Amino acid sequence: MTEASHAPTFEAPTPEHLAELFPSYDIEGLVACGGMGAVFRAVQRALDRTVAIKILPKEFGADASFREAFQAEARAMAKLNHPNLIGVYDFGEVEGMPFIIMEYVAGGSLYEASYGRRIDPREVARIVAATCDGLAHAHEHGVLHRDIKPANILLDLQARPKIGDFGLARPIGSHEGEEETVFGTPHYTAPEVLNRPTAVDSRADIFSIGVVLHELLTGQKPADDPRLPSVICGCDIRFDAIVRSATNPMPEMRYANAGIMARELHQLEEALGRATKAVDLRSPTSLHRMPGPSNRAPGPVRRAPTAVARASYAGGKSGSKGLFTTILLLGAVVVIAWLILKTGIKVPQAPPQEPAVPTAEGGASKPAPETPGYGKRAAEQADRPKPRQQQGEESPFGSTTAPKSDP
Ligand SMILES: Nc1ncnc2c1ncn2[C@@H]1O[C@H](COP(=O)(O)OP(=O)(O)O)[C@@H](O)[C@H]1O
Ligand SMILES: [Mg+2]
Repeated sequence: MTEASHAPTFEAPTPEHLAELFPSYDIEGLVACGGMGAVFRAVQRALDRTVAIKILPKEFGADASFREAFQAEARAMAKLNHPNLIGVYDFGEVEGMPFIIMEYVAGGSLYEASYGRRIDPREVARIVAATCDGLAHAHEHGVLHRDIKPANILLDLQARPKIGDFGLARPIGSHEGEEETVFGTPHYTAPEVLNRPTAVDSRADIFSIGVVLHELLTGQKPADDPRLPSVICGCDIRFDAIVRSATNPMPEMRYANAGIMARELHQLEEALGRATKAVDLRSPTSLHRMPGPSNRAPGPVRRAPTAVARASYAGGKSGSKGLFTTILLLGAVVVIAWLILKTGIKVPQAPPQEPAVPTAEGGASKPAPETPGYGKRAAEQADRPKPRQQQGEESPFGSTTAPKSDP
């Protein structure tokens, strides 16, 4: 909707009044009311579908050029049919007030959802890619939006974006008269909209969605912090190239169309998804950083290094190392035996057998140490297939460091 010279004094009709104006709808309530218009939620009785009715002040209806533009906009929008664009069902005028009836989007605006926050980069890629899909569809059908910003992107209950508020939309190639105010929202408007309004084309919308991309990633508009997004928030550097291309002050340096930008963002969204999963599920190093019991919990991730170890043990290099060690040990035994025989050194008698070091398997039959959590450790160790000497190292008897690592 326009920020035209009309004073922001619009008093929305009451729901009762609106019910009289739209007798085939059940008016459920006011959704939003600004200086430029009001949006109501209603149910279209005949089709049993929820709709949004946007109604504009009489002043707009009285303005002949506005009425013409409004009609052109509604007709252009009626040709659009895309999941990321709010569908238009009807438009007209009641008691001199222009209205538009459209698809109802239940999740509120992206502005409300993201205000002052940094959104997860993968979510940003998804939302902006889908918004670009919607924009590309509008552009292909000859419609420029001209006021892309988070407040004009609504989210459905699955957080899918839908572009709304085509109030400034114009057919591509049409230009305003000299006397008409230049519209748009500061910071989102491309420089050429202000400097060369007659040269404006679909790349002005690309500039605006580039600003939105920057803002969702960083929580700030480029005008507030012009550094690249990855520098501000540490996101993937591939976002930098996309923001830089979309928000280039020269239209010819931007993406040639919104479809290309959409494709790059969809690809980035997928790449980010794969990277996240790989880190979570496959990296044994991330496990090592986890404190306490979860580090020991049996599970598929903990088994991964064992599988790797087995695989490398079966490999040629490890096999030859093992053979070499065996030969070395055998040699040492032969030399020692020869020395004993030659020098007559008496081998000392072995001491009487000590009770076995308590292990997980045998722990229940031995006295438990005074270490808190011993029983838990024993139970955990019972789950772990480990070499015996390693069990000894981790036993509260065999190591003084082991109890410290207990949670
Ligand atoms: N189709 C819709 N479904 C649900 N809510 C809507 C719809 N259209 C607008 N709204 C609500 O009304 C607010 C203002 O709508 P908008 O079309 O942007 O008008 P304006 O910016 O001119 O006030 C939106 O932020 C949203 O909360
Ligand atoms: Mg708006």
